[in-house]
Amino acid sequence: MNTYKIAAIPADGIGPEVIAAGLQALEALARRDGGFAFDVTEFDWSSARYKKTGALMPEDGPEQLKVFDAIFFGAVGAPDVPDHVTLWGLRLPICQGFDQYANVRPTKILPGITSPLAGVGPGDLDWVIVRENSEGEYSGHGGRAHKGLPEEVGTEVAIFTRAGVTRIMRYAFGLAQSRPRKLLTVVTKSNAQRHGMVMWDEIAAEVSREFPDVTWDKMLVDAMTVRMVKNPKSLDTIVATNLHADILSDLAGALAGSLGVAPTGNIDPEKRFPSMFEPIHGSAFDITGKGIANPVATFWTAAQMLDHLGEADAAKRLMRAVEKVCADGILTPDVGGNATTQQVTDAVVEAIRGEN
Ligand code: NAI
Ligand code: MG
Repeated sequence: MNTYKIAAIPADGIGPEVIAAGLQALEALARRDGGFAFDVTEFDWSSARYKKTGALMPEDGPEQLKVFDAIFFGAVGAPDVPDHVTLWGLRLPICQGFDQYANVRPTKILPGITSPLAGVGPGDLDWVIVRENSEGEYSGHGGRAHKGLPEEVGTEVAIFTRAGVTRIMRYAFGLAQSRPRKLLTVVTKSNAQRHGMVMWDEIAAEVSREFPDVTWDKMLVDAMTVRMVKNPKSLDTIVATNLHADILSDLAGALAGSLGVAPTGNIDPEKRFPSMFEPIHGSAFDITGKGIANPVATFWTAAQMLDHLGEADAAKRLMRAVEKVCADGILTPDVGGNATTQQVTDAVVEAIRGEN
């Protein structure tokens, strides 16, 4: 029997609500399957901890996480702590420290959920966005000089390396190859950004030769937003830089019905370090504590985690349960229903138990 060591970091806002839901679904899957189990350790790293101690996590936080098979993360961010402090104090040090360079964001319209796009239903929108997660616009390079003076300067330098771009392209082409349509769209902005983005395009062309059965095309990021809205069916796998994919995947989540259904895996494909799985959404202050956070994004990312751990059957079982519950209309208010987080969770647990 495989026992997976999971580090749960619920953190802030609705994070604890959705992670609690996700852990209930994982427990139900382990009981249903019998072939694997979870050993979950919960960490209280959060904005609350920052307010008490001055740090979101202990200095040796990443070191403590190294022994785990995967990290199950909620959301970080509090109304009274600046967002760059929370993001750089917890989430980014884990992603970057563990070289989780592939950020993988599947999006599709689940049965029972209505897309804001007229006439677009399940099957018309089924994408995976691959976001470069280790460099680019979020490399942390830059600085500020002459602070507060009229001549103050701030720079934010995007870094693209041949090694970094090549590995994310290989990952994206490989993922596209594993999907039935074998279709990849490479997003760039190589008209205006004529250095790093032109290199990005060149490397895409080089790597494409290793994957002759993958059909691929290029899109400028601004035009890509139009194509996502006007012709969602023409897309399958998408690869983009850290910033571009960050923006496009929020749009993708909204087009699939809600940010509350959109999952993410921050993956180290070489498995040198634990990978981290989280819903795309943030801490959602407006609904925190109301018991109505949509747990579907967290279930879906739990399925990504199971896949990564090698439990593909359990991952499929979880997604079948989620799709059944959505199709039955047991939905939270963000997707037009009136169920609570716990009611959706109970229904998913029930569906997992009841499946043959
Ligand atoms: P947000 O994702 O928290 O919320 C945006 C909107 O979507 C809100 O109206 C919220 O109620 C709704 N929403 C999000 N998740 C939902 C769910 N599961 N069920 C139902 N409705 C849901 O983004 P926002 O408001 O821009 O950021 C709030 C805080 O979260 C900020 O501090 C931000 O920095 C942080 N944040 C953290 C992220 C992370 O930890 N990965 C990602 C995005 C934001
Ligand atoms: Mg984002």
